[in-house]
Amino acid sequence: MDFRQLVFERRSIRGYKPERVPKELLDEIIEVAAQSPSSMNTQPWHVHVVTGDVLDRIRAGNTERMITTGKADREIRSHGRYEGEHRERQKRVAAQLFEAAGIGWDNKEQRQDWTMRGFRQFDAPVSVIGCIDRVLEDSTEAYFDLGQFVHAMVLAAWDRGVGAVINGQGIMQSSVVRQEAGIPDDQLIVITVAMGFPLDDFPANDVVSERRTVDQIASYHGFD
Ligand SMILES: Cc1cc2nc3c(=O)[nH]c(=O)nc-3n(C[C@H](O)[C@H](O)[C@H](O)COP(=O)(O)O)c2cc1C
Repeated sequence: MDFRQLVFERRSIRGYKPERVPKELLDEIIEVAAQSPSSMNTQPWHVHVVTGDVLDRIRAGNTERMITTGKADREIRSHGRYEGEHRERQKRVAAQLFEAAGIGWDNKEQRQDWTMRGFRQFDAPVSVIGCIDRVLEDSTEAYFDLGQFVHAMVLAAWDRGVGAVINGQGIMQSSVVRQEAGIPDDQLIVITVAMGFPLDDFPANDVVSERRTVDQIASYHGFD
């Protein structure tokens, strides 16, 4: 696919067919992502690809602990509630998704159900847990490096007909994820990417989220 078309057409997928993504295809996707640049070529990333019973136990444990504790247990420093323009953008994409999914803004039950789906990584057949080397925990570059890896991964997946949603919800209870996926102590859990073949008749999969324009983002200096 043309690069511009690939970038513009990719969107987060939150409704999946149950069939597994073949390991060979996942290998290919990860190989593409591994070509991402990183600070001084340190390549501080690791991924743990989980499916089947392991992923089901992560979903169950993540959901159960979120319900009982009501509190996230992440391994990274995370934002609290977004405010101002960030909150507005968050609300806008939520409104787009809720409308597509037929969820009433004031319908607590439906919203709760959507949140629970998020804790289960939208029942995707695969989850790719992104980690960095713990020794670089205090290096902002390492998170930046993993971010580039993850974006390349979701684009490579989309290019092969595999949908994905980068998500924090599925690893809110990171200690469960660490235990079930056997993540070594020298790696820090940062993010996960749910993956699978997109459901066709799932309107939330068709939501095109909005973007700021170049004028709003870029300031040019010394061009005149
Ligand atoms: C770091 C990160 C964390 C995210 N966490 C979640 C999440 O927990 N649940 C979710 O539904 N989407 C999550 N997303 C997906 C974003 O909501 C999505 O990328 C954004 O709304 C833009 O939509 P698009 O991916 O369809 O272009 C996350 C994305 C990123 C980059």
